[in-house]
Amino acid sequence: MRGVVNDTKEKPVCGIAGYVGPADALPVLLNALHRVEYRGYDSCGVAILNGRIETAKAVGYVDDLRAAIEDANGAASGAAAVPGSLGIGHTRWATVGSPSKLNAHPHLDCTGRVAVVHNGSVENHYPLREELRARGHRFRSETDTEVIAHLLEESGGSPDGVAEALARVHGPYAIAVLFEGSDAITVARRGSPIIIGLGHGENMVGSDVPAVLDRAHGFLHLEDGDIATVTAANVEIRHRGELVRRRVHHVNWGPEDVDKGGYAHFLLKEIHEQPRVLRDTLAGRITTDGRVTLDLKLDRRTMPEELFFLGCGSASHAAMVGETFFASLTDTRVQALEASEAVRPKRRGPGAWSVLVSQSGETADTVDAARDARRAGHFTLALTNVPESSITRTAHATHHLRAGQEISVASSKTYLAQLAGLYLLGLALYPPAERPRRKLAAALRKLPEAVQQALAMSPQLEQLGTRLAAAEHAFIIGKGINYPTALEGALKFKEVAYLHAEGYASGELKHGPFALLGPDTPVIAIMPRDDTYDRMLVAVEEVHSRGAPIIALTDCDNAELQSIAQSVVCLPPTEPMFTPVVGAVALQLMAYYCALAKGCPIDRPRNLAKSVTVH
Ligand code: M6R
Repeated sequence: MRGVVNDTKEKPVCGIAGYVGPADALPVLLNALHRVEYRGYDSCGVAILNGRIETAKAVGYVDDLRAAIEDANGAASGAAAVPGSLGIGHTRWATVGSPSKLNAHPHLDCTGRVAVVHNGSVENHYPLREELRARGHRFRSETDTEVIAHLLEESGGSPDGVAEALARVHGPYAIAVLFEGSDAITVARRGSPIIIGLGHGENMVGSDVPAVLDRAHGFLHLEDGDIATVTAANVEIRHRGELVRRRVHHVNWGPEDVDKGGYAHFLLKEIHEQPRVLRDTLAGRITTDGRVTLDLKLDRRTMPEELFFLGCGSASHAAMVGETFFASLTDTRVQALEASEAVRPKRRGPGAWSVLVSQSGETADTVDAARDARRAGHFTLALTNVPESSITRTAHATHHLRAGQEISVASSKTYLAQLAGLYLLGLALYPPAERPRRKLAAALRKLPEAVQQALAMSPQLEQLGTRLAAAEHAFIIGKGINYPTALEGALKFKEVAYLHAEGYASGELKHGPFALLGPDTPVIAIMPRDDTYDRMLVAVEEVHSRGAPIIALTDCDNAELQSIAQSVVCLPPTEPMFTPVVGAVALQLMAYYCALAKGCPIDRPRNLAKSVTVH
């Protein structure tokens, strides 16, 4: 078992890029930043060394920065606007200091000879700022990052100097630094991920793989405490002053994986990738007779005595689906919890299992929950899409989701992969008798097909989504295993289409929210023909009597529904426990088309970032 690393403090997620080589750094950096923009997009900037350090910054997206640079240089000139072949860049999700040009990275020291981009948080930035001010340093921004530039100004750019400066910083960081007079980018990490992309006669730096994808043939992850000096020809990594080597990973996906591939938005592309993602995530993991192989070895002697599923946002909805699915298989106590609300667990033996669900593996509350559970003696299992993430470093074991990079801030394919991961885990831990097991296995293996059929219903879902663009409020109701589907659907409408949608348990609607129902409040009912159907039908009739228009998502042609619902969507049928997969796809598409009709910035909703690494 690997040790628990202390990298679970707040570490804001932002995009970092760096380039050193023969090419003009500016276009390389702008393209790289564009690809990691999903990590934060309130402001951005670059610093390029060409004798001296030049910076360019903008509030907003990387395209705004590109336009600002073109404007400043005369768009027609076509010349490299900030010349030089050594540079760093950053795209920000503001934490300390509002989104503004002054607070955008890179940050410079007093002399303008040191430029820093940073992902993390300097927890002691107030005392450091006071101390540096007392020594004559003048600050330009409100950010915590700027103190690092001033500390580096004092300590110098040698690896020892950088180590000395960083020893003063409390909190996690990943930084890339330019020093005037040097031909290298200096990179360091503690607690926040950063990678170095290896090219031919050139090297790159990135907060994650998309930043280096189009030029690198391989990449390496820095470990906590590493300080690297990256030139065009060489990468030298030191750990506690000693030269070390880090494993080179090969890039097994191409720029097309981070391109929209002909779709108007990443979200739409990722929604359409879901049949393939389900195939990939199930591949080699379930046989036709329902025997499951996971990435971890299960020791039958240490079966769970109780199980907790923890996650945030969509991952917490997946956890809720997992809870109901497990409850259908076992009497073992199973509980889904929002990681952000979970209290520190009581001390238990390894019979208590905490399953941490997180696509990024970096969500602060979920990483904390993993650490707390591990400290309390639980066996901790991460279900994540990023094998080298904080959560995999914290948990005892990992099951990799294999969903591929998800760029859109709203999750779609990773949600389905989380559901599939939980289904597999349930079948692995609590295999039913042979007949039902075979039946479930067959249905699970057919899910990609069912999702494909749901995608084929796009025209109807587009029409409904577009119509919903006129609504100010909506309810999405479900029951049993589809109550979390209602919550997930509502989350999609909120974040992507800015529609105030409430996910509600159908039986709870009459305990208050009925007061809000009327002709302007559409209600989407998720009602596959399972043992919740009759109760759902009652709820829908009650809603109908209050004059609210109903969109019913079901899986069969029901005469009774046709007479009360304004629209009935007949989704492909599957096993009752797997209906959340098909329901989620329909709701994703409706939310997408609703957002499209409203002209929302679909892949980058306001105020959000892909992973929430702060509490
Ligand atoms: O990376 P994680 O799965 O831990 O992220 C958890 C949530 O932040 C995430 O699911 C969020 O709710 C999505 N934007 C929803 O679409």
